[in-house]
Amino acid sequence: MVKIPTLETERLRLRPLHKSDFEEYAALYADPEVVRHLGTGTEPWDRGRAWRHMVFVKGHWDFTGTGMWVVEHKETGSFMGMIGFAAPEGWPGFELAWILARRWWGNGYATEGARAALHHAFTVLEKDRIISLIAPENQASIRVAERIGESLQGRIVHFGREMLCYGLDREIYSREIASQRAS
Ligand SMILES: CC(C)(COP(=O)(O)OP(=O)(O)OC[C@H]1O[C@@H](n2cnc3c(N)ncnc32)[C@H](O)[C@@H]1OP(=O)(O)O)[C@@H](O)C(=O)NCCC(=O)NCCS
Repeated sequence: MVKIPTLETERLRLRPLHKSDFEEYAALYADPEVVRHLGTGTEPWDRGRAWRHMVFVKGHWDFTGTGMWVVEHKETGSFMGMIGFAAPEGWPGFELAWILARRWWGNGYATEGARAALHHAFTVLEKDRIISLIAPENQASIRVAERIGESLQGRIVHFGREMLCYGLDREIYSREIASQRAS
């Protein structure tokens, strides 16, 4: 079994998913506002789907050495949502995704967590390119992508739905973004 790393930012801890996260995981994806723009379908998930997806997340780490982390609020230990990577067979690239429960929106948390994951992808995993698939009407998510340095690469049809493909190359990251991060 792969050892899943934990990442820390000023306010967040990105940590492995545990079985004990199930109630919060199910509640996250049962919220119609949270799933509204997701590429994998816009209907709220029932508990069975949430459970199966948790197993997918664990298996993704096991099979690829990468995956999604639980975003935990450092100050309170609260479960906030999920940030991290997805690249199962047939995926159009190595995707960085972010999903937070509604009560945490609007505080810069997604941007903060996504930046840490992006840094990990380029420096530790040494990925050449990261993508993020975003529904065209998902303004909040587009802003997160832009704030972490991704730019619009094109449009693709993903699960029958047109999605924007944002992306960032390691070369550009190293040249333009990592240096700003250090300063
Ligand atoms: C997308 C999401 C993760 C953003 O989380 P967040 O923590 O609120 O994001 P941030 O606070 O880092 O905000 C990032 C930017 O989006 C802007 N923003 C936030 N909500 C917005 C909205 N409803 N409409 C337009 N812009 C919005 C913020 O003002 C900020 O922009 P700024 O830098 O210009 O101020 C969150 O809305 C979410 O979980 N949505 C449901 C799941 C989802 O759609 N995930 C993305 C799938 S591609």
